[in-house]
Amino acid sequence: MLWIFYVFNECMYCCFVVCSQIEEVAISPPGSEVFVLAGSAFQFTCACVSSCKTPQFRWTRATTDSDGMLTKNSTLKFSSVRIEDAGRYTCDAKCDDSSEKEKKLKTVKMTVYAFSQPVLVMPSIWTENVACDVTCSVDAFDHVDRVHISWYLGSDLLKNETQQTLDAANVSDTLTLTALRDHTGKNLTCEVKADMRNNSKQVSYCLDIHYAPKINISASSSGMEEEEVVMSCRSNGHPTPTIEWERKGEVWPKNLHRHAQGNVTGRLHRSNQGVYQCVAKNVVSEAKEEMKLEVQYGPENTSIQSFSLQAISFGVQLNLTCLSDMYPKAKQYIWTRIPDMALPKEAVVTNSHLIIDNFQEHHQGIYECRVIHHSGNTERAFYTASVQGTI
Ligand SMILES: *[C@@H]1O[C@H](CO)[C@@H](O)[C@H](O)[C@H]1NC(C)=O
Ligand SMILES: *[C@@H]1O[C@H](CO)[C@@H](O)[C@H](O)[C@H]1NC(C)=O
Ligand SMILES: *[C@@H]1O[C@H](CO)[C@@H](O)[C@H](O)[C@H]1NC(C)=O
Ligand SMILES: *[C@@H]1O[C@H](CO)[C@@H](O)[C@H](O)[C@H]1NC(C)=O
Ligand SMILES: *[C@@H]1O[C@H](CO)[C@@H](O)[C@H](O)[C@H]1NC(C)=O
Ligand SMILES: *[C@@H]1O[C@H](CO)[C@@H](O)[C@H](O)[C@H]1NC(C)=O
Ligand SMILES: *[C@@H]1O[C@H](CO)[C@@H](O)[C@H](O)[C@H]1NC(C)=O
Ligand SMILES: *[C@@H]1O[C@H](CO)[C@@H](O)[C@H](O)[C@H]1NC(C)=O
Ligand SMILES: *[C@@H]1O[C@H](CO)[C@@H](O)[C@H](O)[C@H]1NC(C)=O
Repeated sequence: MLWIFYVFNECMYCCFVVCSQIEEVAISPPGSEVFVLAGSAFQFTCACVSSCKTPQFRWTRATTDSDGMLTKNSTLKFSSVRIEDAGRYTCDAKCDDSSEKEKKLKTVKMTVYAFSQPVLVMPSIWTENVACDVTCSVDAFDHVDRVHISWYLGSDLLKNETQQTLDAANVSDTLTLTALRDHTGKNLTCEVKADMRNNSKQVSYCLDIHYAPKINISASSSGMEEEEVVMSCRSNGHPTPTIEWERKGEVWPKNLHRHAQGNVTGRLHRSNQGVYQCVAKNVVSEAKEEMKLEVQYGPENTSIQSFSLQAISFGVQLNLTCLSDMYPKAKQYIWTRIPDMALPKEAVVTNSHLIIDNFQEHHQGIYECRVIHHSGNTERAFYTASVQGTI
């Protein structure tokens, strides 16, 4: 047991000696030249291939002055890379207890490339179904041979293109977009990458798509006089349209009240009958919709008029007309003779007219006209047909 322990212990010692020497230094990101976008945050990380318990790192910059020591730990950070930061950087690593001679070095060249923040040029107002051109431009290139411009609507790629950059030239790409109303709230993004490197710059515009109003009119009421009516005019459209009610060709009636949000309320009067119009208007366009308001009333002031030329006498024509004030016209006229007497068979009835060509004694009596309106309302009128002194 003891012997085994001894062997094990000696191996541990042997291992420790070998591992305390750093075999290799590695820098991440890898490569002898690393391209970094000016303005981005960036860091180099140094690591060593060994199981050294406490390796010590140091980053230096190969410059003419001083020894250029930057940091004593494994990461070299740039919160925002500048053009002047371009150059060679060296990481050296040594183990805690080893001498300066045993340290290992690794050098990386950092090349800083640059291009400007992309800029969008586009119309200030977007309207549904209208094709608009949007231009994304970028310039001020440094160490950039090609730019790759991608357009996104939300997260959908609409278009991508690669363009060569001539030194310090302005590169731009134009997208023609026919916007829809449901694009509102989505970002239109132009993303620019240089030489297909990972870092990109983007510019986004949150779309706000205008569209024309479309009217929907409705009225709650059967249209009977004295009834409360609500005429409502709804309209979509973006931006939210203004809504106005007008009466065509006439002044607005006093008994009907126009409220905000396109409602009209009031107690109907027969004089309100007419054509009304709702107008919804926004910057895109104006929509108009007409509505015919019919006000039903009656029957009222029902009467029976006689159109006989002479006073009634036997042998003349009896020509009675039932008159009543109502709208719309009567559904039905019912003629009877009271009390309990059927109309004489000679009586010819057509709607509101009753004619007896040759008036005789047995035609005498009280004639009744009953007017029946569509609403179910009825009214009666009476006419006494008699030859003077015979009843
Ligand atoms: C490295 O050192 C810097 C200061 O010299 C410090 O801000 C940073 O947090 C250190 N990073 C690590 C990983 O220790
Ligand atoms: C455009 O994007 C597609 C899909 O991501 C890709 O396959 C293609 O290579 C890109 N085109 C250019 C010119 O980069
Ligand atoms: C690039 O060119 C476009 C179109 O010619 C122009 O609108 C834009 O202002 C220019 N951008 C710069 C940064 O010069
Ligand atoms: C649109 O872009 C802006 C600015 O880049 C960002 O703040 C916003 O969250 C984006 N909106 C959507 C819906 O992606
Ligand atoms: C770029 O991004 C791709 C995919 O995310 C990744 O595999 C690659 O290592 C990145 N390149 C650099 C240089 O960061
Ligand atoms: C109009 O509004 C009514 C009630 O709100 C609705 O039932 C109808 O579908 C709408 N019509 C249109 C064309 O929007
Ligand atoms: C307008 O009238 C509709 C019914 O036609 C009603 O639902 C709505 O609440 C009214 N709006 C206002 C602001 O009065
Ligand atoms: C009904 O007759 C009365 C009395 O003649 C009159 O004042 C009223 O205006 C008439 N109504 C209608 C609807 O003509
Ligand atoms: C009955 O009188 C009306 C009104 O005067 C008239 O129009 C009509 O022709 C007359 N009917 C007959 C059959 O004479």
